[in-house]
Amino acid sequence: MSSALREIIPPTFTPVPSYQPETVVDFTAVTSFSDNCDAIGIFVAAGSEPDQALGLSSDSLALAGFEGKEGQTLLIPSASGTPLLYAIGVGARESLTADSFRAAAATLSRATAKFAHVGVHVSETHSLDSELLGQVLAEGFLLGRYRYNELKSESTMVPLATVEIMTASSSGVTAGIARGVIAARGAMIARDLANTPPGHLTATDFADVALRLKDDFGLEVTIADKKKLVELGCGGILGVNAGSAEEPRMITLRYTPETGTPTGHIAMIGKGIMYDSGGISLKPSDPMHLLMKMDMGGAAAIFGALTTLRDRGCTNTVTAFLMCTDNMPSGSAYKLGDVLTARGGKTVEVKNTDAEGRLVMMDGLALAAEQKPDVIVDIATLTGAALMALGPECAALLGNNQGVLDQLAAASAATDEKVWQLPLEKKYRKLLDSDIADIANLGGQFAGATTAALFLNEFVAGIPWGHIDIAGTMQSAEDDGWRSKGATGFGARLLSEFALGFRV
Ligand code: BES
Ligand code: ZN
Ligand code: ZN
Repeated sequence: MSSALREIIPPTFTPVPSYQPETVVDFTAVTSFSDNCDAIGIFVAAGSEPDQALGLSSDSLALAGFEGKEGQTLLIPSASGTPLLYAIGVGARESLTADSFRAAAATLSRATAKFAHVGVHVSETHSLDSELLGQVLAEGFLLGRYRYNELKSESTMVPLATVEIMTASSSGVTAGIARGVIAARGAMIARDLANTPPGHLTATDFADVALRLKDDFGLEVTIADKKKLVELGCGGILGVNAGSAEEPRMITLRYTPETGTPTGHIAMIGKGIMYDSGGISLKPSDPMHLLMKMDMGGAAAIFGALTTLRDRGCTNTVTAFLMCTDNMPSGSAYKLGDVLTARGGKTVEVKNTDAEGRLVMMDGLALAAEQKPDVIVDIATLTGAALMALGPECAALLGNNQGVLDQLAAASAATDEKVWQLPLEKKYRKLLDSDIADIANLGGQFAGATTAALFLNEFVAGIPWGHIDIAGTMQSAEDDGWRSKGATGFGARLLSEFALGFRV
């Protein structure tokens, strides 16, 4: 975006509107509701009688078309009018999980979007640990109510102010709430960054956000500008940046546990393509490319995850490399046939400038590997092939170490940010052979998510490594459980959970 246009962005504009430390939602575990609630949701499981607080039987709810299926809502009119009562379906009683409650809280939060003061009554917890219950309810309420409104002149959204959670055993719920609030805040920061238009969030702006927020979250931040990237020999990110009027930035974040010897060292690398036009291999005109402002969703997810670590007492050290630039065509752009030299010296023939993600990632991976961390995890909106194979619900997971992949899968299961493992099939490596350089940035016609991962594998120096391709999951076309329309923040909660649980 031209500097003239940037000059008229109001100084009050923020790329992280969800992060307003002075206005936090007040969650409380209660044994009965106060008079403060505008609306109360009562969770109802399919195939069982609703709590008597609802005042209706399952038969009469069924007559109104409500069976307690996940995602169902029914407003129950009452003579007194307030508080409004909602029946919220949580799905079949025998298959209730933490995910059911997170999703139901999100549904309730949306159904009551006109109200600031909401209550939820959970009578059947299916013996879910009360701390976990508190956590997933808080996550659901916050993520379900999320809307990106920063650029609307009039916001139609009423922010949540208070949430009362009523369960039979409220012990533990309070501690869980605190965890959920932290996790959701990280995911919302990731969503904000990904939803922000490319003209409002350049690589330089992203770096400024990191510098502005670092102290609030106990992070050390180092920014590498173009000159520094030249010094570091990062030919990948510099090549991709060559066509852009905007400077690149590599944002290095470091979290160190406050006390004790760290239990391990995790390196994370995020794709931060602020806008992916395809470059000289220009993407054809398609409404889909409106989404390419979210091609920094991997970097945003890592940033969101790192905002949670101190507050959740993570005992591992985490070093993150966010590889930020846009990918633009111009007279100075990198071309097909160019050969780029990665950090560490490997040469790469550019066969398609739209396969830019792996080029910025290779420098980050090489720098990470030099630090000899215990594990490397990268996250990137890398391939259309991952979207084609797994759709918008499920990210592709690949890597060189099954133990690491299992730990990532466990973090995925705990957060309902779904992943599915694809093979790192070495037989396809030859598809990346180049006649003139060490490797090419383009594989064959098939197995695009795998060949992209095989490319990345060349830069991890054999260190245990997991790769998450979020091209499909970075956004949602509709409101659906914890996922709100627009950027999902996918990966922020998963990576936070992984960093908390990781053991060498
Ligand atoms: N950013 C895209 C991948 C993408 C596609 C993300 C759809 C989200 C939704 C990536 O840079 C890209 O363009 N990949 C190419 C690679 C190909 C040229 C080898 C692709 O997947 O088509
Ligand atoms: Zn691309
Ligand atoms: Zn891309």
